[in-house]
Amino acid sequence: MRALSILSAAVLLASSVNAGSDPRDCEVCMKVMTDIRDSMPKPDQKEKPKIESAIGAHCANESLPAREKKICYYIDPIKRDVAQPFSLGMTADRLCKRINKNNPEICGVKFPVKTENLEPKDLTKLRVKQLKSILLDRGVECKGCVEKEEFIKKVQETEHLAGSDEF
Ligand SMILES: *[C@@H]1O[C@H](CO)[C@@H](O)[C@H](O)[C@H]1NC(C)=O
Repeated sequence: MRALSILSAAVLLASSVNAGSDPRDCEVCMKVMTDIRDSMPKPDQKEKPKIESAIGAHCANESLPAREKKICYYIDPIKRDVAQPFSLGMTADRLCKRINKNNPEICGVKFPVKTENLEPKDLTKLRVKQLKSILLDRGVECKGCVEKEEFIKKVQETEHLAGSDEF
């Protein structure tokens, strides 16, 4: 989880140069799909009923992290619609984008961004939009903030809220 968060932060940093769609779109869905695929013997990965049971089994796991549970909340009731494209062997990325077409909440689920391992100078590389998005993830508003420094300060002050995993 920690490694993933650092990765998210790194991806976020890397993305600060190109605007456009969020590279973190679908990231939790992709993790869940990869885990489900990895839990299955190779020949089963093409069999729809086997895929449906693997989704059910994976999602029955009470110890999944909150964001992954949230993906399960969306995909468990539509196992059949997931199993179809899943059985074609497409990448997790394509699979998630495909099922997101009819269930547009799925790709919006993202891992919380932790910034504790980032140097302040790294935070200054982020855009204000990204700092705002980190704060939004934490349920924090930066009231009256205008300058980038103010947003950075708020991000640093609210580090303890990163990854608070309410549903
Ligand atoms: C349930 O999920 C946790 C956290 O992802 C994992 O460590 C554990 O191995 C899983 N248990 C089963 C039975 O798959």
